[in-house]
Amino acid sequence: MGCQMNVDDSNSMASHLERLGFSFTNSKEEADFIVLNTCSVREHAEHKAMSFIGRLKPLKDANPNLKIVVTGCAAERLGQKLRKKFPIIDLVIGAKQIENFPEIFDKSFSLAHSDNCGEAPSRMLLPSRAKESDEIAFVTIMRGCHNFCSYCIVPYVRGPEKSRAVADVLADIKTYAAGGFKDVMLLGQNVNSYCGAASDGTAIDFPDLLAEVNKIPGIERIRFMTSHPKDLSDKLIEAMATLDKVCAHLHLPLQSGSDKILEAMNRKYDTALYIALIKKIRRRIADICITTDILVGFPGETENDFSDTLLLIEKAGFNALFAFKYSPREGTASSGLAETITEEEKDARLKRVLELADKISISKNNALVGSVVQVLVENTEGPMCTGRTRSNIKVFFPAPTDKNMNGSMVDVTITRAKVNTLVGEPCAK
Ligand code: SAH
Ligand code: SF4
Ligand code: F3S
Repeated sequence: MGCQMNVDDSNSMASHLERLGFSFTNSKEEADFIVLNTCSVREHAEHKAMSFIGRLKPLKDANPNLKIVVTGCAAERLGQKLRKKFPIIDLVIGAKQIENFPEIFDKSFSLAHSDNCGEAPSRMLLPSRAKESDEIAFVTIMRGCHNFCSYCIVPYVRGPEKSRAVADVLADIKTYAAGGFKDVMLLGQNVNSYCGAASDGTAIDFPDLLAEVNKIPGIERIRFMTSHPKDLSDKLIEAMATLDKVCAHLHLPLQSGSDKILEAMNRKYDTALYIALIKKIRRRIADICITTDILVGFPGETENDFSDTLLLIEKAGFNALFAFKYSPREGTASSGLAETITEEEKDARLKRVLELADKISISKNNALVGSVVQVLVENTEGPMCTGRTRSNIKVFFPAPTDKNMNGSMVDVTITRAKVNTLVGEPCAK
């Protein structure tokens, strides 16, 4: 459950289990170990985890050997309270301990490594499972966050920001490249403030890291998320414009179009800075796709503040966005603020944001009809292929051969635009 960093953590944990000789099943009934990696960002995410755990009781009754492990951000926040609430849980490992998962897991269950797995690795990673789709490799380049946006639980459950060493990041990407991956997604809560140690002891910033990744043979597409507007430098824009493998896509969460609300959120930028950034980026990278996150219903958000958000969404012309209803998180700065709108009003605002986003997305996508885009195929199902453009738009097109096309780059002429997706025909070779 949760963000891409949680997905990467899940993959790393799965890699460790695979190394121990475990095999994987999609059926809970068949499993001897169930590991649930949780998210805490909104109350709903925690509820989902709780109801999942609640439903495991009959399985534990039927199979006394079943071990239940709960990890991640909600595990960090709730800690041993979780075991009190659900005695069926055998082990809780919070997000701050996730890097020590192999040691904690092995020790808790007295597991020895199987003969063929060798020494315990210094990094939890195996290319066979560390991936989002079959074609995109996720690589966490930094952990934690210390921006303390007033609504956000992440700094509390993940701890302060720490960048991974350059050599470790590059070694992971080379492993993926050797495993046939062409598309890599660099992950962090705010990749723009990456500052990793190079082997000579100097510090490398994010644009310099991109330049290093750009040199890795086999990798053809480099993406990253998330970018915090307050830290998006001219140097990064220049790197995006000049490094050939860096894709023309930027996820730049806005959250709100009201300066008053941005300040209360402790985002440390205002709408003027945000718009100026977008203009600068579009001037340098004309075909860039910009996506965002919007948070509606923050305490004190009036109808006027919300209208300003709608206006800014329109002005910025986002290709796509994720919108969320404010959910107070205990212990965060804003959790003490009284909520000023009802759940129904939040729903209505969310709906208005999503309707506007769809309208913009379709008009942006319409402008692509007739153009040729490069698609990396992620899925071949019967006669249809699905993949993404370099700018991260999903494209459907008829398979040009009867072979499985996954992992191939195909040039596609766009024939039809939909909300958030495109339809096309492969170009004749
Ligand atoms: N580091 C990223 C965001 C990570 S969380 C950034 O700074 O943009 C992903 C998104 O969840 C956020 O952008 C925000 O829109 C949303 N979110 C975070 N805390 C939330 C809360 N308490 N209630 C509702 N949405 C929240
Ligand atoms: Fe949360 Fe803000 Fe950090 Fe993003 S930058 S993870 S929203 S505190
Ligand atoms: Fe959720 Fe933790 Fe990610 S709270 S959004 S899984 S960092």
